[in-house]
Amino acid sequence: MADSLLITGASQLLTLRGHGPRRGNSLSNLSLIKDGALLVRDGLISAAGTRAEVEKLAEARGAKKIDLGGRVALPGFVDSHTHLVHASSRAEEYELKIAGASYEEIARKGGGILNSVKKVRAATSEALKQRALAALKEFAAHGTTTLEAKSGYGLDVASELKILRLHKELAAEQPLEIVSTFLGAHMVPAEFRGKAGGAERYIQMIEQKMLPHIGEGRLAEFCDVFCDRGAFTVEQSKRVLQAGRQWGLEPRVHAEQLSRTGAARLAILLRAASCDHVEKVNKSDIVALGKSETVATLLPGCDFHLGLKEYAPARALIEAGAIVSLATDYNPGTSPTLSMPMILSLACTQLRMTPAEAIVAATINAAHALQREKSIGSLEVGKQADVAVFEVADYREIPYYFGVNHCWMTVKRGRVIHVTKQATI
Ligand code: NIG
Ligand code: FE
Repeated sequence: MADSLLITGASQLLTLRGHGPRRGNSLSNLSLIKDGALLVRDGLISAAGTRAEVEKLAEARGAKKIDLGGRVALPGFVDSHTHLVHASSRAEEYELKIAGASYEEIARKGGGILNSVKKVRAATSEALKQRALAALKEFAAHGTTTLEAKSGYGLDVASELKILRLHKELAAEQPLEIVSTFLGAHMVPAEFRGKAGGAERYIQMIEQKMLPHIGEGRLAEFCDVFCDRGAFTVEQSKRVLQAGRQWGLEPRVHAEQLSRTGAARLAILLRAASCDHVEKVNKSDIVALGKSETVATLLPGCDFHLGLKEYAPARALIEAGAIVSLATDYNPGTSPTLSMPMILSLACTQLRMTPAEAIVAATINAAHALQREKSIGSLEVGKQADVAVFEVADYREIPYYFGVNHCWMTVKRGRVIHVTKQATI
């Protein structure tokens, strides 16, 4: 017997039905249905339409029912950039930043990423797991149904594998979908620094000792690099990404965050799935991204947390035709938030994106960034029933209210995985 679920009573059902990644004007197209309903069979959407259209289907009659009572429903958020597994906050660095120290100054003194690396190396897998599980519950409570998770706080063979194996365990043991990314080239670790050829020797270790384990164990789908001043050069990044590809890992790039290095051009050249950050892109990079298939993922949580004034040029990217997406970049150093609604608020006020553009960027375009557009990112027949329901009367209120969580219910593959206490279903 098929397991059917009828979801009705959405005052606005944002289906995001349409073709391909959204660029330019199509970034505003939510394919909104008033008084919408969804029929779900075995975790997949079997019908989407108005309540009247869906309720009259034979299958709807025997289905279990959830009435959303006039709330707003949309595809679950796809958070395509997170550093999920880490050992603790870096609140002490937050205070230094407020006092005037820059992110790079703190990193040069052994803080920053290497601070988190020390803590992850010392932590047991179980401790990291408990912290990640608590975070995953919060992701779900804020409407996220799929997230990408990067390694990159291990930076030795055992610790990188510890994180990547955790991604796999977490994916199997809780309902959110986790897309694993290997970020061995996040930073040159302390034991390789300050010696001639240290970075080159570390890259050799990535190629010879890390990637074979990751490829054979199918521990990651993507390979990322932090291509920036103080991290890896364009040439080094290219080498790592090409090596990753030989093991079946598709490239993505941390690009043009602290300085303009040419990292976005590298991402385009390698046909990377995404290039993320892009605060420092120049005009010709914007034109090039506009013509490419590489998704430009904007992470306004970083600039907000670091107190920076220079956000990514979202409007210029949209006008150039780039595939713009949004993500939290959940991490202890630059963006300690797991709230996609907060990211939407920042996208609207700081990036000057409209609420509709921000929602498209956080769902279907983000699904493209993870190469998962066939199964998630919109509410269409045949896709997973991944739904976020908000306690609002109009979708624009999702970014409008900030700092308070209005997510009322989250559904993953047709299963309710989060519901607020007041909700009765
Ligand atoms: O995306 N820029 C590189 N990686 C992270 C920051 C990591 C950290 O500071 O711990 C980012 O901003
Ligand atoms: Fe990041």
